[in-house]
Amino acid sequence: MAYEKYREQFSNRYPTLMDLAKKAKKRIPQVAWAYLDGGTGDEDLLQRNRNAFQQITFVPRFCKGPLQVDTETKLFGTTYTAPIGMAPVGLTGLMWPKAEHYLAATARRLQIPFCLSTVATETPETVGEDIGDMGWFQLYPPRDKPLLHSLLQRVRDAGFHTLVVTADVPMASRRERSKRAGLSMPPKITPKMLWQGLTHPSWTYHTLIRGLPRLRTVEHYTSNNDMKFVSGFVGNRLGGTLDWDYCRELKDLWKGPVVLKGILHPEDAKKAVEIGLDGVYVSNHGGRQFNGAITALEALPHIVTEVKGKVPILFDSGIRTGLDAMRALYLGADFVLAGRPFVCGVAALGKYGGDHVAHILIDDLRNNMVQLGVETIAELRKAEITMG
Ligand SMILES: Cc1cc2nc3c(=O)[nH]c(=O)nc-3n(C[C@H](O)[C@H](O)[C@H](O)COP(=O)(O)O)c2cc1C
Repeated sequence: MAYEKYREQFSNRYPTLMDLAKKAKKRIPQVAWAYLDGGTGDEDLLQRNRNAFQQITFVPRFCKGPLQVDTETKLFGTTYTAPIGMAPVGLTGLMWPKAEHYLAATARRLQIPFCLSTVATETPETVGEDIGDMGWFQLYPPRDKPLLHSLLQRVRDAGFHTLVVTADVPMASRRERSKRAGLSMPPKITPKMLWQGLTHPSWTYHTLIRGLPRLRTVEHYTSNNDMKFVSGFVGNRLGGTLDWDYCRELKDLWKGPVVLKGILHPEDAKKAVEIGLDGVYVSNHGGRQFNGAITALEALPHIVTEVKGKVPILFDSGIRTGLDAMRALYLGADFVLAGRPFVCGVAALGKYGGDHVAHILIDDLRNNMVQLGVETIAELRKAEITMG
């Protein structure tokens, strides 16, 4: 496998996701970094998301002889190498052109899921060619039903099997850091932008080849491909629509697993299970929507108690190590995902950057399971912990 050629070099130079984030920050224009890395308001939730993990410490057990860790996980009938996946990230091509294609190829190579966003910069039709049977699709629910039906049909025809419906964007958040950095739709060619382009030649070169990032999935539905028009269309036609009736309808329409993303309240989790959805995805959108929200890790055990194993629980927001993943799995998540780290991997290292991120997370998860003295996730759940 081509990644194997680079594995040692990557592992020595970038042994952690933080190393990749540093490299990504240097390689991409400030505006793209602000969009990727930022939260909203004073961004306090970004730090709280991280701190929450450090509150959980384990009490290891020893003298168990050689341990064979098994992370293979079955979710909705598909087998994955580990309970680790790539969360949906919109406007991905702004951070690195063709990032969705690279990440889809990573998913296929490593047998982990990649969730394509409705507002990605590449279409389900083209990404579907790279992804094998590892494709999930994230839906910002359209107001108008013919559009919804057409979008779901396209996604299904392209081979995506798991539908992730985002609940936690009742309206766009303010994202002040992106504004300060000059993010606009369409991207404006200002002297500042030209300077950013000149000082990030590799990004500029790849952007010139692929063309400026566009919301290629949704522009299909507009008569006008102008980015300003398409972004307005996204704001007006895809936002603020979701209610329980709509979720029920989605469950009927999509002939496969439907997961509700962005859940933090146990009652919302309960309702999702009651109406027959297949999974609950605990997340605070990586701290990008509601700066006053609880951390996803604090919300997780309450949701686990409410759901009582009736459906799988997915989790994201702040995972940066395999140990973080282990903590979320310990608290009852069945599957964890990361957003920013995979995009940083591609921005830092290109085509195989996503592979490197996945390897770091999976190796670190396995290593920490051995340090703790457990071989399976089921055993992990019985471990002893202390909570700060
Ligand atoms: C740049 C960026 C764009 C995102 N776009 C979407 C999106 O289009 N749909 C969605 O449901 N979540 C979106 N998210 C949220 C991620 O799916 C995920 O919940 C979050 O990134 C997890 O936190 P982490 O980045 O700390 O891993 C986005 C996150 C980032 C960083």
